[in-house]
Amino acid sequence: MNVTMVGAGRVGLVAAACLADFGIKVHCVDNDVRRIDALREGRVPFEEPGLSELVNKNAVAGRLCFSTNLPDAIRQSLVIFIAVGTEDETPGSPNLKPLFEVGKQIARAMEEYKVLVVKSTVPVGTSRRLAREIMKETSISFDIVSNPEFLREGSAIENFMRPDRVVLGASSHQSLAIVRDIYRPLYLIEAPIIATDNETAELAKYASNAFLSVKISFINEIANLCDNAGVNVHDVAKVLGLDRRIGPKFLHPGIGFGGSCLPKDTRALIASAHQLGCELPVIEGAYKTNVTLCSYLLERLKNAVGTIEHKTIGVLGLAYKPLTDDVRESRAMDFVRLLLKEGAVVQAFDPAANAAAAALVQHENLLLMPDAYEAASNADALAVLTEWNEFRNLDMQRLKKAMNGHVLIDARNCIEPNEAVMEGFDYFGRGRGTMATKEQPAVVAV
Ligand SMILES: NC(=O)c1ccc[n+]([C@@H]2O[C@H](COP(=O)([O-])OP(=O)(O)OC[C@H]3O[C@@H](n4cnc5c(N)ncnc54)[C@H](O)[C@@H]3O)[C@@H](O)[C@H]2O)c1
Repeated sequence: MNVTMVGAGRVGLVAAACLADFGIKVHCVDNDVRRIDALREGRVPFEEPGLSELVNKNAVAGRLCFSTNLPDAIRQSLVIFIAVGTEDETPGSPNLKPLFEVGKQIARAMEEYKVLVVKSTVPVGTSRRLAREIMKETSISFDIVSNPEFLREGSAIENFMRPDRVVLGASSHQSLAIVRDIYRPLYLIEAPIIATDNETAELAKYASNAFLSVKISFINEIANLCDNAGVNVHDVAKVLGLDRRIGPKFLHPGIGFGGSCLPKDTRALIASAHQLGCELPVIEGAYKTNVTLCSYLLERLKNAVGTIEHKTIGVLGLAYKPLTDDVRESRAMDFVRLLLKEGAVVQAFDPAANAAAAALVQHENLLLMPDAYEAASNADALAVLTEWNEFRNLDMQRLKKAMNGHVLIDARNCIEPNEAVMEGFDYFGRGRGTMATKEQPAVVAV
């Protein structure tokens, strides 16, 4: 079977490469000429473990090709996946113009029945709207299947190949059968395939992300309380997580959820609910808590070093999470912006996201450094903002020697507090009691 994937981004390219690996011929189309040129030369334009190898393996095998010519790809494919971005146009209102534009192009190019599969995350009712728009352009029959994507950056291939579930929201048995057949290789691993209608699929994607947002904000609030109570949040999280009704995942405190999905999707769900005359106070509360966490951390830093103005702050981690170079809505970048606003000089290092950070924030006081020790060099304080594994094994003595000051803010609890304290750091983590010092060691996990 021939399929088209529109959008060679973090979802589209992963899905295209994985579908090609299932043995399907995939035409991957994007309107970004430079991106397509790079892919044709075997260069993947962003960080995702294993993706480069998978793309190149399937391109060489002739199952994956790249193009900017959408009409041509449409004519060769029965099924057209759409994985274009839906970033906010205004807060809570995803920009659906690329999706509708692609819909119009498909309508104009199709010469026989097609199945459009919407992978992009869209508000409830969007597929129905898209169908109405396409029907204005063509009388040829088509179906729309809502197939929201749940992959996570950093483990995207594994998530696509071994999903917790595949959701297919379809309005006809024919289109459901066609798309179900594409996912047939997943029968072997017994991945649940949930068949439903378009609206349920659309809403279920938002509800999943909103639930994760609530869970993250919940543990961050408990971490704040643990700071004041002198209790270790990881012990509390362990007790919570062993309750099978709660589960252990997403109970790790930090500076809040970021990236291109959770904040945007939580805002969009709240906005959709308002349009439908409904309040979501729990989800709104989770969103508000998330927004406060950077300021909470900044206050802790100020308590430790006094005014931030003219201070040099080392920053470790800029990506919104490890194993990606994605800085979209990264809370680490928010924290950096706060530091710059306060007049600090920021020396930052991220193992993958230095270039993306430089493209996002241009400021004379933001210096991007080649490694963690350079970022710490002559710094008055150091803040660990993304939990890259390499930050878990830093040489504390070398870090401390490199610095002028002795304050360490560990926003992701990557560092063993008492190891840092032994080297002379004043340590503040998340939900590990107030500032730990040599005189007053940290509350360690039992
Ligand atoms: N990134 C994630 O982890 C993730 C996970 C699940 C769901 N999603 C959702 O999937 C969708 C895509 O997200 P992403 O992160 O892959 O976005 P992205 O920005 O990485 O990629 C989108 C791609 O679409 C292309 N594009 C835009 N308009 C186009 C058009 N008219 N014709 C052809 N190509 C066009 C862009 O050039 C870009 O390459 C969004 O709705 C997002 O919310 C993302």
